Amino acid sequence: MDQNEKTPLLSVKDLAISFGENRVLTSVSFDLRGFEALGVIGPNGAGKTVMLNILTGILKPSRGRIELCGNDVTRAGVSERANMGFGRTFQIPRSFENMTAYENILVGAVFGNGQSEKAAAAPAARILDEIGLGGRKRVFAGKLGLLDRKRLEIGIALAARPKVLLLDEAAGGLTESEVAEILAIVRRIKESGIGVIWIEHVLQTMMHGTDRVMLLAEGRSMVCGLPGEVMASREVEEVYLGVQCGRKRLDGN
Ligand SMILES: Nc1ncnc2c1ncn2[C@@H]1O[C@H](COP(=O)(O)OP(=O)(O)O)[C@@H](O)[C@H]1O
Ligand SMILES: [Mg+2]
Repeated sequence: MDQNEKTPLLSVKDLAISFGENRVLTSVSFDLRGFEALGVIGPNGAGKTVMLNILTGILKPSRGRIELCGNDVTRAGVSERANMGFGRTFQIPRSFENMTAYENILVGAVFGNGQSEKAAAAPAARILDEIGLGGRKRVFAGKLGLLDRKRLEIGIALAARPKVLLLDEAAGGLTESEVAEILAIVRRIKESGIGVIWIEHVLQTMMHGTDRVMLLAEGRSMVCGLPGEVMASREVEEVYLGVQCGRKRLDGN
């Protein structure tokens, strides 16, 4: 067994963060390997996006440790973290509307990873093909439909050559056949060796697009295992049934 097999790509241990009295995360731990996609599910407000913000250095945890390839990166800043290999997409697409799809990808390479525009040009064209936007590279991002904006978000993150790709609801709001397009893109990314953390509410993505799923609820990583097993677990049932009962009550039923 070589070092790469022993050391996880990403190791997260006992992360915690509070905002005033709001103890959002109390203990989140997990490992991620290259060529692996870890799905993250959990109710709204559970702290999934906060976890990504800690991983990318936007937020500082009050406790815990983050290691990338065995190196402690817990205190590294946002741009340092991006250069080390953390890439992400945002829940609400952040592409520049007045720039073309191609230009947006270049921005991801130049500002996300410090590449020169010249060096980034050929990879950018390749990425556009990989995400299925090769034929629309000259279209302004603002003119693209939701699926294409979601594709572009992934492309911008890829342009920075991440080791770990963090997807925050990359398939949210899409139809079933559109979700299948995103699934195929993520599968190819994973097969290229990148480790993927995929936050999503869409069951289809967790069952068909991940190797393991983690339930994040009550501030902690509650269960983690094979997608089918986690989805069928007592913890998932309790967490989601609780949420549904709460909604029913709110609706007056
Ligand atoms: N920067 C912030 N300052 C204060 N509270 C925040 C901040 N970011 C998130 N929160 C709070 O953290 C909780 C979890 O939010 P979030 O991670 O967005 O949930 P989700 O699991 O739906 O992605 C919410 O109560 C939210 O209000
Ligand atoms: Mg969120």
